[in-house]
Amino acid sequence: MSVLNGKKILLGVSGGIAAYKTASLVRLFIKAGAHVQVIMTPASKDFVTPLTLSTLSKNPVYSSFYNEEDENEKWNNHVELALWADLMIIAPATANTLSKMTSGTCDNLLIAAYLSAKCPVYFAPAMDLDMYKHPSTIANFYSLAQFGNVIIPAETGELASGLSGEGRMAEPENIVAFIEDDLSSKLPLKGKKILVTAGPTYEAIDPVRFIGNHSSGKMGYDIATCAANLGAAVILVSGPTNYNVSNPLITIINVISAEEMYVACHQFFGDVDVAIAAAAVADYKPKNIAKQKIKKAADNFVIELEKTKDILASLGALKKNQFLIGFALETENEIENAKQKIQKKNLDLIVLNSLQDQGAGFGKPTNKVTFIDQFFNQEPMELKSKESVAEDILNKVIAHFEKLK
Ligand code: CTP
Repeated sequence: MSVLNGKKILLGVSGGIAAYKTASLVRLFIKAGAHVQVIMTPASKDFVTPLTLSTLSKNPVYSSFYNEEDENEKWNNHVELALWADLMIIAPATANTLSKMTSGTCDNLLIAAYLSAKCPVYFAPAMDLDMYKHPSTIANFYSLAQFGNVIIPAETGELASGLSGEGRMAEPENIVAFIEDDLSSKLPLKGKKILVTAGPTYEAIDPVRFIGNHSSGKMGYDIATCAANLGAAVILVSGPTNYNVSNPLITIINVISAEEMYVACHQFFGDVDVAIAAAAVADYKPKNIAKQKIKKAADNFVIELEKTKDILASLGALKKNQFLIGFALETENEIENAKQKIQKKNLDLIVLNSLQDQGAGFGKPTNKVTFIDQFFNQEPMELKSKESVAEDILNKVIAHFEKLK
């Protein structure tokens, strides 16, 4: 999956012949799963039509402050457009537009949106070779780099003037690849390895029966997905669930029992930077597993259970530099019990769910958690979607690595 998936991209098109290539660029962004809105300078409309870009982006295209088409919405709000965007890309960026970006000459909607943007800004220059090499153009590149904008260098080849040299706007495929690489390299968990456990475990009674629990695995899968989206390589050790993921950064190790989860976690723990235990591991398992299906006979039937190994406590005992996060699901004395688990399992952070809280727990799309760190600082969170709780947990991980810098 592309890092551009789900990203909101504001594309600013200025008036150079390369503007015709923005049709392909919009199509590639959409194909990567991004949402695209387009602002065109008046001059760019001579090279590519707003209808083309509107059709491909599936959104209206804006080009002036005044909206002639909508009686009720007379004003095209450049601030709203800029704040909507996760990324702004100016392609082609002509010498004229580059100069206005540098000086803040705000005489069109594109520059107004540029000046309002708080997101990362990329620009793909396009001009003739002598213009590209002119000291004023180079000075503009320098200023824009100082502003934190990222240049997507022009390519060498045949130019509209008939001359050949550097100045052609980068090909749309190369623009997309450049932005994907740049975003990936800046992801906050890039280079980190994270072990996540998820789902229930099933403890066999006989060949057809087991002791299990109602964990759906959603919380662990959301954590794994969020970690991968932030650039981490994830080992997801999963009990039986109905979920699947197809992110190349996530390796799923499917297990059934607590013992299998224990073995898999210990196989990978020494090599990871973070471990997050979101699985609802069975605390007990049948002492003897019947080889054949147990036939019904007596009115009462007793199964002797023995403790499973506590995976998280064992990881806590082995811990070197790993940041270790556990979950606690409690119904009473929540804070006290959670604090005891931090100590007993040698955790850096615990995510406490109280079943007293509505909307928290198994099989629900939402969760209400309290974070408690190793120093017993408590941080109660709002009721949120499990995706948002996953983001909060990964933000704690990011903050931990920030502190180490
Ligand atoms: N856990 C584990 N291995 C086990 C049991 C639990 O790794 N055999 C992990 C869970 O994934 C969770 C944390 O330990 O992150 C807390 O689990 P919980 O069941 O709440 O705690 P227990 O220590 O089992 O205590 P109790 O059931 O008595 O509350």
